[in-house]
Amino acid sequence: MKILAVESSCDETACAVVEDGRRIISNVVATQIEEHKLYGGVVPEIASRRHCENIVGVCSEALEQAGMSLDECDAIAVTYAPGLIGALLVGVNFAKGAALAKKKPLIPVHHIKGHIAANYIAHPELEPPYICLVASGGHSHIIKVNDYTEFQTIGRTLDDAAGEAFDKAARSMGFPYPGGIHIDKAAKSGDPSRYKLPVPKTENPYDFSFSGLKTAVINLVHNAEQKGEKINVNDLAASFQHTVCEILTSRFIKAAEDNGYKTIALAGGVAANSGLRETLEKKALQKGMKLYIPPVSLCGDNAAMIGSQGYYEYMAGNTAGSDLNAVASLRL
Ligand code: KG4
Ligand code: ZN
Repeated sequence: MKILAVESSCDETACAVVEDGRRIISNVVATQIEEHKLYGGVVPEIASRRHCENIVGVCSEALEQAGMSLDECDAIAVTYAPGLIGALLVGVNFAKGAALAKKKPLIPVHHIKGHIAANYIAHPELEPPYICLVASGGHSHIIKVNDYTEFQTIGRTLDDAAGEAFDKAARSMGFPYPGGIHIDKAAKSGDPSRYKLPVPKTENPYDFSFSGLKTAVINLVHNAEQKGEKINVNDLAASFQHTVCEILTSRFIKAAEDNGYKTIALAGGVAANSGLRETLEKKALQKGMKLYIPPVSLCGDNAAMIGSQGYYEYMAGNTAGSDLNAVASLRL
């Protein structure tokens, strides 16, 4: 079954053709990062406009690379939640129009479920049940994946998402948006024990909280500026990254152990972080757990992951009609 998938929840207009949920036939992503960089973050109105301008070209390109016409696709999958409402609406309306015109099934896909499904493309042997840590710009969740379309969130961030904390801490260190990747690079030549940063406590041992940590970094930079002292950015990046990785890894591994999982997975934009990949790999090896992580190219927003999850949603009978609407925030 060949699914044309559409993703437009934030600042990437993406379209892909995926076969049977596991094989990418084509995968096109048009990023708007350069434009949003000017404002230090995503400007929702600009994101919507660019999606409108790009979506037809991006989807045509995905079909062309796949050597297929829209008629030859068996269904159309689209991210309908969560995300920026104006951005989501562009993808949803495009997909609804295409499905109606070509009389194809329309499959609504939850963005976070899509991030998790990126692992199915990369790892043909991976099947539920397993437990997954999803860390992105908008979410930090520990999720029990009971089946392809059955999820249970047992931990979440109480304030900022991990990616959001990376981006805001990076901004205070002078890096452009999105700063996660710049912290990753700077951390490679920094000393992670140089700056002591706070580790938050939460009532639920599987929850996260990153806003105190983010504020500590911002205050550290401001205080140094006021005293005319110089911060070692590489050391601060390394210290921040180390702290975030320790928090994410320790709580995720505890959740896996407490709930008896031997198969664990990582997903979301922050899964591209080299420190997090290493820390989790080491810990999983120590604990005798099998860890799955998508390649870096499938960690950030893309439509291939939506096509993968779309296949399993279709198999479970989860299709929609022309009354499908976009939803800005929606739990799993
Ligand atoms: O999943 P994603 O592409 O979009 C959302 O659904 O939010 O995640 C984007 C987030 C951004 O905060 C970005 O800075 C972060 O992922 N990110 C990273 C790295 N690459 C992307 N964070 C840390 N290290 C990286 N290498
Ligand atoms: Zn995402």
